[in-house]
Amino acid sequence: MGLNFKKMTTNRTFTMIKPDAVKSGYAGKILNQICDAGFKIVAMKFTRLSKEKAGEFYAVHAARPFYGELVDFMSSGPIVAAILEKENAVEDFRTLIGATDPSKAAPGTIRALYAKNVGENAVHGSDSNENAQIEGSFHFAGTEIF
Ligand code: CDP
Ligand code: MG
Repeated sequence: MGLNFKKMTTNRTFTMIKPDAVKSGYAGKILNQICDAGFKIVAMKFTRLSKEKAGEFYAVHAARPFYGELVDFMSSGPIVAAILEKENAVEDFRTLIGATDPSKAAPGTIRALYAKNVGENAVHGSDSNENAQIEGSFHFAGTEIF
């Protein structure tokens, strides 16, 4: 009886399959792995970021030495952008993709399987519920989210 309290976690995260992985033909395999891990796609598009939009998306890293390369790379070709739903989505998705540097990513993770190096690392995953919301809204209008 009484209220059934659940741990307060939001259930959505944002991802991009980055230009390196799309170019190498891994988009299908990566989406399959994401769905097999229990994530539901609630928004998705195949698109390409302009340099300006890539710079805006990664503005938080503007002072980092890799920022210029990151912006060039992320605007170098098409990406798949998606919003994913699952209980504890942000944390579970970060676990699924593995460490930023693929040489440190756990075996079987998406980055361990498909990333080239710390920069060209196959996928993006939001690092907090707040950023998941911001990043999802950056790429999708309300009418594109289901
Ligand atoms: O993507 P993640 O949250 O794991 O890493 P981040 O620290 O938020 O960095 C964002 C992105 O910048 C990474 O995914 C890499 O593509 C790139 N990066 C890089 O090129 N060199 C680094 N030393 C660190 C990150
Ligand atoms: Mg990050």
